[in-house]
Amino acid sequence: MAPASNRQFLLKRRPTGLVTRDDFECRETAIPSPGSGEALVRNLFLSFDPSQRIWITDMPGYMPPVAIGEVMRAHGIGQVILSNDPQLPVGSLVHGLIGWQDYVVSSKSVPFGFTPLPLRLPVPPEVMLSVLGMTGITAYFGLREIGAPKPGETVVISAAAGAVGSIAGQIAKIEGCRVVGLAGSDDKCTWLTQDLGFDAAINYKAADWKKQLRAACPKGVDIDFENVGGEIMQAVFSMLNLHARVVLCGLITGYNGDNPTASLVDLGPILVKRVRIEGFIVLDYAKRYLEAVTQLGQWLAAGKIKHRETIVEGLEHAPETLNRLFDGDKLGKLLLKIAEAPIKP
Ligand SMILES: NC(=O)c1ccc[n+]([C@@H]2O[C@H](COP(=O)([O-])OP(=O)(O)OC[C@H]3O[C@@H](n4cnc5c(N)ncnc54)[C@H](OP(=O)(O)O)[C@@H]3O)[C@@H](O)[C@H]2O)c1
Repeated sequence: MAPASNRQFLLKRRPTGLVTRDDFECRETAIPSPGSGEALVRNLFLSFDPSQRIWITDMPGYMPPVAIGEVMRAHGIGQVILSNDPQLPVGSLVHGLIGWQDYVVSSKSVPFGFTPLPLRLPVPPEVMLSVLGMTGITAYFGLREIGAPKPGETVVISAAAGAVGSIAGQIAKIEGCRVVGLAGSDDKCTWLTQDLGFDAAINYKAADWKKQLRAACPKGVDIDFENVGGEIMQAVFSMLNLHARVVLCGLITGYNGDNPTASLVDLGPILVKRVRIEGFIVLDYAKRYLEAVTQLGQWLAAGKIKHRETIVEGLEHAPETLNRLFDGDKLGKLLLKIAEAPIKP
């Protein structure tokens, strides 16, 4: 049954290190009413993304920080249950910045607005937040546009068993590359090689991981799909080939520190090997999302791409769920289910 009030997590203070429940205020308020041209959305699934940890620091990024007292920002999918907006009819599923709460109004002040999903989805709604959502789209444009892979090249992917990494690696396989993943457990490595078809996967927590990485890349590295930064990035940099490309997708090692994007590395190999490093944000490709979703959907239907979601149940678990992105306690895309979907209007 739908709750009679709106539970919300508001940012109470800027966290240090991993978040705690005390960094947020959990409050219950009346369910908001949609105004003219607005719709009331019942939130169903929250996406958990490492960028959420950056949004609650005081550092300006591609979006302003979440203000103290503001509902915690997060992408997600919800269902319209009341509507004064002909573009968002009752019953439709929508994607947008729904936040850590049970209900949201599709007010014009919400950045990027709310996008209706196709009426008869061929996949469960949560897939629209993973392989057919921002993470799949990030992998698609990062690997293809910035990595520019050629058959036979060697691609190394860090955080390879995560949402972006697991899809980027499979796209690189489709492109005919040798794909080597780095992940934080033997089980994750087995999933990468046995289920997803990676050529090799290395547990970076093993004592000899650098030696294993060298052995797995006998011809050096042509593309570094970088999700992590720090020591892992440095190790991959030392193996880059002439004219290699570094797809600078994320630097998660720094996100819980004071300077979330700090990652000190020796740039010597970049100069000597004439390597191109390019940072990117998936929003840069907003006009081409349909192209990515269409191609990813075709690969999915053809069984060329597999995906996993780790789904936590219950809005009340949101703060500790965010930490699972950093302690690695999940496989594939991390989501939180707030309510059963879809609700019969
Ligand atoms: N540029 C863009 O537009 C864009 C868009 C989306 C995401 N990103 C970035 O892409 C990266 C992956 O994001 P995602 O959503 O797919 O998350 P994810 O990979 O599903 O989850 C994060 C993973 O990172 C690994 N990790 C965490 N802390 C680590 C550390 N200190 N050292 C090594 N590995 C660590 C953990 O896996 P293990 O168990 O294997 O350690 C964890 O499961 C992030 O850096 C994110 O910021 C960028």
